[in-house]
Amino acid sequence: MKRIAVMTTGGDAPGMNAAIRAVVRTAISKGAGVFGVEHGFKGLLENRFVRMDSHSVSGIINRGGTMLQTMRCPEFHKKNVRKSAYHNIKNMKIDGLAVIGGDGSRRGAHIISKESGVPVVFIPGSIDNDVYGTDYTIGFDTAVNVGLGAIDKIRDTAASHERVFIVEVMGRERGFLALEIGLTGGAEIILIPEFKKEAEIGRICSVLKAGIEKGKDSSIIVMAEGVGLSNKFAERIEKRIGMEARYTVLGYIQRGGSPTAASRRLGLTFGYKAVKALLGQKRGESTMVGIQANTMVVHSLKNVIGKERKIDRQAYRMNEAFSI
Ligand code: F6P
Repeated sequence: MKRIAVMTTGGDAPGMNAAIRAVVRTAISKGAGVFGVEHGFKGLLENRFVRMDSHSVSGIINRGGTMLQTMRCPEFHKKNVRKSAYHNIKNMKIDGLAVIGGDGSRRGAHIISKESGVPVVFIPGSIDNDVYGTDYTIGFDTAVNVGLGAIDKIRDTAASHERVFIVEVMGRERGFLALEIGLTGGAEIILIPEFKKEAEIGRICSVLKAGIEKGKDSSIIVMAEGVGLSNKFAERIEKRIGMEARYTVLGYIQRGGSPTAASRRLGLTFGYKAVKALLGQKRGESTMVGIQANTMVVHSLKNVIGKERKIDRQAYRMNEAFSI
């Protein structure tokens, strides 16, 4: 393989730059030329290839976001539109592609290799941690720590004012981030899209009331954005239990900032492993790197595509036991 390209797609995540650095430098060390594709799938359509050398990725390991930039690209769902991407890849003589992104990006990566024959390796990077085939995605650890920092601060006000606080974290469809932040932040209640019953207002209020009866004078609820509007929940809770309730939406603050050591390490290791896998792939072959039970793994994409990562029920129940 003489020329590979690397791109980031979907939502940015801290540690993606570490992965780009690892891909570029590993490929160069193996004698391959490297191009970056700016703006993700859109960049493939618009022929936005930039030559990269080892210097292009200097000084980025500590930076959040992605130096290659990223964009949502709904047009890429159309087969006839994708043809121009394949034309550009061929024209640039790219014979291997590394795609860094979340679950949606993985589908795109798989389609590219199936339709164009170009070998593709997928590197899971998303604060949502919702990619089947890996226990962790790049950026998740940083986002968890941002959430924890926020809870630790909010707890001061919650305790001082005897209030219930709802901390709304990211996770439109999945609750991995909320569960981890809630558990490690000591939240009384965690609300995630996967567990609808647990998010019923009657149940939430009875847990809070039970706490008040035992002498609790403040509570933290961590809620994933996919569950609903935290302001509405706060209003209803205040009305029902007669205790002041407030909400804070962390939003995009969780997606930015300098990556933690764990997010950088994952980016570096995934990038290195991905290039090694890619260089050995045949035409039409697509793979994904991941980490499972503390071991690096490489999956064939056809074995993992379309499968859903399951929420850790035991971790959820464990938190219920802690929040008495
Ligand atoms: O990066 C994942 C994620 O943060 C989701 O949790 C969130 O719902 C979504 O991205 C929103 O991102 P955007 O506004 O960029 O589409």
